Amino acid sequence: MACRTCSTSTGNLRDASLLILLLLLLLVAPWRSEAAEAAAAARAAGLSFTRQDFPRDFVFGAGTSAYQYEGAADEDGRTPSVWDTFTHAGKMPDKSTGDRAADGYHKYKEDVKLMSDTGLEAYRFSISWSRLIPRGKGPVNPKGLEYYNNLINELVKRGIEIHVTLYHLDFPQDLEDEYHGWLSPRVVEDFTAYADVCFREFGDRVTHWTTMDEPNVLAMSAYDSGLFPPSRCSAPFGTNCTAGNSTVEPYVAAHNFILAHASVVSLYRDKYQATQMGVVGINVYSIWEYPFSSSSADIAATQRALDFSVGWILDPLVHGDYPEIMKKKAGSRIPSFTKEQSDDGSNGENTGLRDYNADVATIFRFSRNDTPTDQFVPTKMQSDPQGLQCMLQYLTDTYQGIPVYVQENGLGQFFNDSFNDPERVEYLSTYIASTLAALRNGANVKGYFVWAFIDVFELLAGYNKRYGLHYVDVDDPMLPRQPKLSAQCCSPCRFSIRGEKQ
Ligand SMILES: *[C@@H]1O[C@H](CO)[C@@H](O)[C@H](O)[C@H]1NC(C)=O
Ligand SMILES: *[C@@H]1O[C@H](CO)[C@@H](O)[C@H](O)[C@H]1NC(C)=O
Ligand SMILES: *[C@@H]1O[C@H](CO)[C@@H](O)[C@H](O)[C@H]1NC(C)=O
Repeated sequence: MACRTCSTSTGNLRDASLLILLLLLLLVAPWRSEAAEAAAAARAAGLSFTRQDFPRDFVFGAGTSAYQYEGAADEDGRTPSVWDTFTHAGKMPDKSTGDRAADGYHKYKEDVKLMSDTGLEAYRFSISWSRLIPRGKGPVNPKGLEYYNNLINELVKRGIEIHVTLYHLDFPQDLEDEYHGWLSPRVVEDFTAYADVCFREFGDRVTHWTTMDEPNVLAMSAYDSGLFPPSRCSAPFGTNCTAGNSTVEPYVAAHNFILAHASVVSLYRDKYQATQMGVVGINVYSIWEYPFSSSSADIAATQRALDFSVGWILDPLVHGDYPEIMKKKAGSRIPSFTKEQSDDGSNGENTGLRDYNADVATIFRFSRNDTPTDQFVPTKMQSDPQGLQCMLQYLTDTYQGIPVYVQENGLGQFFNDSFNDPERVEYLSTYIASTLAALRNGANVKGYFVWAFIDVFELLAGYNKRYGLHYVDVDDPMLPRQPKLSAQCCSPCRFSIRGEKQ
């Protein structure tokens, strides 16, 4: 057991009895071909669980994000985001862009039907800020509004639970140009105004909101290494940036992410919660840290790594301030919260960061066996399902049992990945099993989303890496979709439906 704070004993007896259960199903109900098929698929994939092992209100889904999925980059009034600028400057290794991506802007209806056909319970997507509000502020774009209303209505019609992320790394270029985006406190007002439009227009049908995607990774990759737009960094921490300050700006950007999130949560609570009754959360990229040895120095180092990655964002939101170790190490480079912001609400006036409506979502895509690298390039990913279990239990233990969703978990394969993807089935089933193990050990996990619903434009890897449950033939101008094996038999989808029929 290499992991420091949690036990991963899933109980072999329990696994054995589940297997027996599946076998019984085959024996007593051979006429139920669907159930038999599902059970056979489960055994083939080595699954030791069914949908019924998860609580009814636990949700299984898959996701995409606006820039990676929609395409139609300059259609119907959308203005560029920093990702459009970045890809058009030829910054992708393969010079690709998200101009067309999976063309979801035109194909959403077909895609929602595909979700329905493959039994997806929930869909997570993001709204393109500069499609809904061109230039980032000012009037709403009627065409953008129409697209998201159509998509949402289609999902409602097919009974698919909707999870919306407001901001998935595609910051409006105009606001970047005007005040350097997340480096300025001015972003808080504009982001809150944008969120207000989303809640007002879509909140009658959308109850699960995430303010932003991976702020901890964004702070590092956009302002430290400069690998993500707006490509800011300074030597020796990054190369080829024309501006930036790697020792200071990541802290400043993260501070504004946190204040913007807090502002949006408080807007929702004051203006919408009573009627819309939804939840607003945030999402952090998480990777479990294993101590190199059992020495106290190595154990302290793993805690420090957790504090600097996950604690950076979650400590302020749950405990009202940055982790002590971050304040100590970063000194004056890390901004401070005012007393009012850090207030725990014990005086009855909670206007600060801490808000217990919030959900947290976790992203988990990396592995303990990756070779150490200073570059965040998703070229090689091994599997560490135990790390996910440890992380889920850690979040519950450390952050007062806040509800957690696994929002992105998936396997990227090369361009020539085919419809037949048993590796992905295997990968997903081991992670779902570890999610179940965490749940049984008391972690407050509420859902699990595969990344991605469909092959999309991958940030940094373009079209050379495929994560989808559905294949997109990017060589065919019509971008036809076809379910992969993982879409047909992967447990999040099929099991949910077939299980309930029994
Ligand atoms: C930085 O720019 C130089 C000159 O254009 C180029 O040779 C080098 O590959 C670039 N480095 C990175 C990491 O992009
Ligand atoms: C970054 O900002 C700090 C604090 O203002 C300053 O001391 C440092 O010299 C700056 N570094 C660069 C590369 O500009
Ligand atoms: C897929 O592409 C990779 C990288 O080009 C290559 O190494 C691999 O052999 C290819 N696999 C198949 C099945 O064609």
